[in-house]
Amino acid sequence: KLQAVLFDLDGVITDTAEYHYLAWKQMAEQIGIEIDRAFNEQLKGISRMESLERILVHGRKDGQYSMEQRRQLAADKNKHYVSLLAGLAPEHVYPGIVELLGQLAEHHVPAVLTSASKNAPQILESLGLADRFYAIVDPDGIPGKPAPDIFLKGAELAGADPRYCIGIEDAQAGIEAIKAARMFAVGIGKPELLGASGADIVYDSTVKLSLTSLLQAVKQD
Ligand code: BG6
Ligand code: MG
Repeated sequence: KLQAVLFDLDGVITDTAEYHYLAWKQMAEQIGIEIDRAFNEQLKGISRMESLERILVHGRKDGQYSMEQRRQLAADKNKHYVSLLAGLAPEHVYPGIVELLGQLAEHHVPAVLTSASKNAPQILESLGLADRFYAIVDPDGIPGKPAPDIFLKGAELAGADPRYCIGIEDAQAGIEAIKAARMFAVGIGKPELLGASGADIVYDSTVKLSLTSLLQAVKQD
């Protein structure tokens, strides 16, 4: 029996993964580092400071910035990112998400948000989805994806057994985290990327998400 569905936010509920990419790309360029979409796959699901570390290592400038400067770079990126969120509205929720949340509510299956983003509560508010989630995991102070902790915490908040939970993710690190938590992993994106990370099923679009399609996928597993 399905006990909870755990949702990533950026790239699963709305297109904010793209905004993260644009903001990191601009910040990186300012310090002379080039990043592309292929590299960006490694940043998806990863915390703000860890993402910055990876960009610095990628540009071989890891030794060049003090902790204080790193905090400033991360703050600059976030400021730009938050400015990109300004126009975010309910119409920007990916197709199928509101319907799925409705189906889960109807069947008393808690929906839990398991995002690494500190901006998540604000984004849910802008999208008009704040009251559609049973719980939002606070990523502060728990090990980030690909560690399973954020998903395990989500299951715990919902009073669910991880073996009867489904996690939905667009990030390779996120799929790894779901599998490390021993849950059923649904990928949103490219099968060749997410399948390699262990996704149990991959959809190219959220349109294909529904309670029926999820239950079907779990049954066939
Ligand atoms: C994740 C994104 O959801 O949140 C990452 O996939 C992002 O790209 C991370 O770095 C942290 O987000 P924020 O909003 O706290 O900087
Ligand atoms: Mg994501």
